Amino acid sequence: MIGPVPQPGILEISPYVGGESKAPGVAKPARLASNENPFGPSSAVLEAYARAAGELHRYPDGSASALRAAIGRHHGLDPARIVCGTGSDELFALLASSYAGDGDEVLYSRHGFLAYPIVARSAGATPVAVAETNLCADVDALLAAIGPRTRIIFLANPNNPTGSYLPMGELRRLLAGMSAEVMLVLDAAYAEYVDRDDYGPGHELVDQFPNVVVTHTFSKIYAMGGIRLGWAYCTPAVADVLNRVRQPFNVNAPAMEAGIAALNDAEHFARSRTHNDRWRPWLADKLANLGFTVHPSVANFLLVSFRPYDSEEVRLFLKARGVLVRQMASYGLPDCLRITIGTEDELMQLMAGIEAFVGRNAPPSRP
Ligand SMILES: Cc1ncc(COP(=O)(O)O)c(C=O)c1O
Repeated sequence: MIGPVPQPGILEISPYVGGESKAPGVAKPARLASNENPFGPSSAVLEAYARAAGELHRYPDGSASALRAAIGRHHGLDPARIVCGTGSDELFALLASSYAGDGDEVLYSRHGFLAYPIVARSAGATPVAVAETNLCADVDALLAAIGPRTRIIFLANPNNPTGSYLPMGELRRLLAGMSAEVMLVLDAAYAEYVDRDDYGPGHELVDQFPNVVVTHTFSKIYAMGGIRLGWAYCTPAVADVLNRVRQPFNVNAPAMEAGIAALNDAEHFARSRTHNDRWRPWLADKLANLGFTVHPSVANFLLVSFRPYDSEEVRLFLKARGVLVRQMASYGLPDCLRITIGTEDELMQLMAGIEAFVGRNAPPSRP
């Protein structure tokens, strides 16, 4: 007897595996595997979250109007065109299932964020990984990959796990070359960390093109990954669609209060940015000095090739010392590990671990 059969494509999904959070025998490991802000959220966020506990018997405001107004004020955007979600992951899934379906294609860059192929397959569509150049999305390759069945292009900008980004000129070139019937989702999860004149999350593109959506998250610089809060800035037509398909109370009340508090704490934001600006180049230099290839990153993590060593051996050695970093085999980058910019102490622990590994292991000769 066979039971209910899932929709086509569902059993082809490789479930997402998150970064590790535990190291056996280590009470408080250095958690550098999930691109979290090591400082944790602002104290104002914790207070707002606690305050919301008094009203847990009440349904939240299903329209998230206070949060959307706060986001709108903060970024100079029309709140009517903002849709909030339970993490940006929820918004990717809603966009995929609303705009792509059976027989359609969803493009993403070869080493793009792994949530994209998952939401594409969940919607019944086929995810198509498009070649990159030097671990960066390639506009010409994306344009060449667009076909009659292409419905959505998901681009993380900056991208996780590579840390690379597409400048505004390249995004405009992509949009100029593609049909307005194909949606471009710009996932700006790490936008707040970028310090480049030619970068922007792309809000103005949403105003200028009918087919652009920009998503943001409170999980990264605002350090609220556990709360699950994200938002999308879209055209009125896309906002209308998302508001039809989302669950009526998709964002919980404490998350909304916490989100508003986070936007109001400029000091916590600046401290987090300054820390990252200081320690990312520090770590990149240290690793490069040991002979490892550090891919250029504008975000709060580094992608590092540990060749000629076996990266999995390095990862397990670090884990045994209580330092957790992310394996990259699932992204097709088996030589690499991804390392989040942690606190100063955590980074010292990391470097001590890597130096100990190198000290104990002569580099294997590899072809
Ligand atoms: C590129 C990218 N987009 C989105 C997310 C997830 O965002 P959220 O926590 O809002 O679902 C991540 C988390 O790692 C990410 O790396």
